[in-house]
Amino acid sequence: MQFRTSEQIRNDFLDFFKSKGHLIVPSAPVVPLDDPTLLFTNAGMNPFKPIFLGEQPSYMHQGQAWQRAADTQKCIRVSGKHNDLEEVGHDTYHHTLFEMLGNWSFGDYFKEDAIRWAWELLVNRWGLPADCLYATVFGGDAEDGLPADDEAEALWKSITGINPDHVLRFGKKDNFWEMGETGPCGPCSEIHIDLRSEQERARIPGKDLVNAGDPSVMEIWNLVFIQFNRQNDGSLKPLPAKHVDTGMGFERICAVIQQKTSNYDTDVFSPIIQHISKLAGKNYGDSEYTDVAMRVIADHIRTVSFSIADGASPSNDGRGYVIRRILRRAIRYGWDRLSLKEPFMFQLVQTLAKQFAQVFPELQAQLSYVQGVIEAEEKGFLRTLGQGIELFNKMTEGKTSIDGEDAFRLHDTYGFPIDLTALMAREKGLSVDEEGFELRMKEQKERARSAGKFKVDMSDLNDWKTVTPGKDSHFVGYDTTECETTIAAIRTEGERKAILMTETPFYAESGGQVSDIGILTNGEVHLRVIDVQKAQDKIVHYVDHWTEDLTGPWIARVDSVRRLEISKHHSATHLLHAALRQVLGTHVAQKGSLVEERRLRFDFSHFKSIETSELEEIEALVNRKIQENMLLHEERNVPIEQAKDRGAMMLFGEKYGDQVRIITFDPAYSVELCGGTHVDATGKIGYFRCVSEASVASGVRRVEAVVGHTADEVLRGEKRMLSELRALIGQSEHPATTLQSLLDDRKRLEKSLEQVQFRQALDSLTRLMSEPQSFNGFSVISGEIEGADTEMLKQLGYESLKRQPQACVTVLGSRDKEAQKVYLVATVTEDLIQQKGLKAGNIVGQLAKRLGGGGGGQANLATAGGRMPEKLTEVLNSVTEGLNS
Ligand code: SER
Repeated sequence: MQFRTSEQIRNDFLDFFKSKGHLIVPSAPVVPLDDPTLLFTNAGMNPFKPIFLGEQPSYMHQGQAWQRAADTQKCIRVSGKHNDLEEVGHDTYHHTLFEMLGNWSFGDYFKEDAIRWAWELLVNRWGLPADCLYATVFGGDAEDGLPADDEAEALWKSITGINPDHVLRFGKKDNFWEMGETGPCGPCSEIHIDLRSEQERARIPGKDLVNAGDPSVMEIWNLVFIQFNRQNDGSLKPLPAKHVDTGMGFERICAVIQQKTSNYDTDVFSPIIQHISKLAGKNYGDSEYTDVAMRVIADHIRTVSFSIADGASPSNDGRGYVIRRILRRAIRYGWDRLSLKEPFMFQLVQTLAKQFAQVFPELQAQLSYVQGVIEAEEKGFLRTLGQGIELFNKMTEGKTSIDGEDAFRLHDTYGFPIDLTALMAREKGLSVDEEGFELRMKEQKERARSAGKFKVDMSDLNDWKTVTPGKDSHFVGYDTTECETTIAAIRTEGERKAILMTETPFYAESGGQVSDIGILTNGEVHLRVIDVQKAQDKIVHYVDHWTEDLTGPWIARVDSVRRLEISKHHSATHLLHAALRQVLGTHVAQKGSLVEERRLRFDFSHFKSIETSELEEIEALVNRKIQENMLLHEERNVPIEQAKDRGAMMLFGEKYGDQVRIITFDPAYSVELCGGTHVDATGKIGYFRCVSEASVASGVRRVEAVVGHTADEVLRGEKRMLSELRALIGQSEHPATTLQSLLDDRKRLEKSLEQVQFRQALDSLTRLMSEPQSFNGFSVISGEIEGADTEMLKQLGYESLKRQPQACVTVLGSRDKEAQKVYLVATVTEDLIQQKGLKAGNIVGQLAKRLGGGGGGQANLATAGGRMPEKLTEVLNSVTEGLNS
């Protein structure tokens, strides 16, 4: 076997299948944002599911249909049917993220070519030892009524050079591949390799170790012959065409060709292991204890980085929670076993991005974003980790188990996932009451739910008073804004009058779109519908008043002008969503949205601010899509499965029913699941204008925009402002001269304002001096001067000394309430300094202390400041108290 680098091995595979007429396609994102049932892409065939199911005829590329494709697909297996998480790091060949090299036939070649080419590549091209290879085939299954795969067995023996004794039959568990509980599936044929020494092979035959969990006899390639669709009821439905789906573990084949016993010793992992080792100051290979941690980190950083680059982000549920858990698992191993107590994971991203720049450029392209997200997560988790570990040690002192309550506390307060607690417990030889923990989690969820219920106090719908018996709340508002109806039931909710109608065109607030308003009239009585809300499956209308008799026919009429404006904003939101993904990247995922009559607001994941040029590009793209006047394509009651397969954008974590509504504006541009109202062609939106862009939370940006009439108004306003400005500038020959004269004017005004204020202050001083207090044979003048600052007070102090040069103490104060500040000045005439030992500095210092401040200065004049304006009057009234001492 000739040494090949991992990059060469990947290229060998792709080049080989290219030479066999395959189209080489890029890896799909590891986060299938359009498929909420699938947490992560877990097999190379996921992106081709619609083709296998016959929903799409073949793979389209630049207008050409391809029936053969090959790629390397990033896959994550951490949950569900294919789950490797527990092993990762402790052994040397399981990973949470791995590359799957695959070749596909979409209704084209079948078993024969798949088997022939697999052998050709492995043995003839790469030189794998033929006598160490085994092929397994499906041995049949009675429950599914399937016979053994005699055909594959015969092919292995006749068209390849395999030792016929090395072709083995296995059951459904090993040789019938299924994507999940439902979906494409079929019998498969796996290729295993026996990596043991000749001696060992002589002792125990390799065929006894195939599928027996021995790490040196392992599967390297799986050839699946897809021919069925597993139905919800468990039955198998034959597919219209037969396909080939193969998957080879890239990291494993690299280890085989590079003759390493551990995947982590190949050049797929060595750059990242080296980087970790450098950060930790420890060599890989020094001890199993630290090696495990390095492997965990090396594996997990790949999963976390690529999933964030592909659009996920750490959070508390769904995919985000899986990523958070994986990241925290790695941080904790680093913290504990490698003494990495500062954020370090984010630094590794760079090494990954560089290493995979050619094959997965998405990481390099979003390097700072991915680093930012990871670093923020690390900081947050490290803060609590230290405290949590302390608590954990305290909790477990002298104990043999951790009860559910403690495990829950670690989770709730310190963010310890239960598997982390279990892991730490295992290391200390303790058990964990995981059931008790789950119970508390359930209780907490219920508490949260009932708290939610309390807020929307409409869930108890039993107290409706029937007006017209029959079914209620049939929504007809997608097709009309006016209809004949009857009032089905009423009730009061506090002050509010609530009505249910049999048919209603009124859209209830949901999915970020505000509710309709309008009128309910029977020709004589007009009830104004002021708000519409959903409560369970009911559409509840709130009206301003009602009359005794509500029976008989009514006309329900939505304010259609307003509805149209809302619809324009909603359709524009879809166009914006697609534009954001196109311009900023597919990590953009909707985090919130508000659709109103006069604006739209859209929150989405994106880690940095949007450049002006990007914003302009987004705005331009949306406007282009408006001008293209794309027609609305609305489909109701589409089975959710079908919607997913078609790649409709969904919100992860959102609950969708079995039947969904799909809104499409050009299938290549915007396909979303949506219950809102829309314009029937994008041209009606008129014009789209961004009015603001800002951050609302870490990693979440918000764009606000206006369309339709409001956009018109905004534009008119801007135009008016422009012409006013132009007129202003136009008054002068030269705009710069105008500006200078404006500045001069301003200076002049400020100067005269100061003069006016000083004159007023002098008046106040005069008044105060006319009413002196007599104290110990001298005069005391004190009082507040409104609006004076320290400088002005100082001037007044000198003025007072000038006007009354003998036997006088003056204390003046002022306050700035907004700034919570007080200013003081004190003066003492020369004679009092000499004879009585009075000092202005002491006087003002003492007073300022009572105002929460301090100050000082000369014996004849000193200033001070304080922070309690509310006490100034009191202090100024008691100036004499401090003059005895
Ligand atoms: N779908 C098969 C697997 O994931 C082969 O690609 O193993």
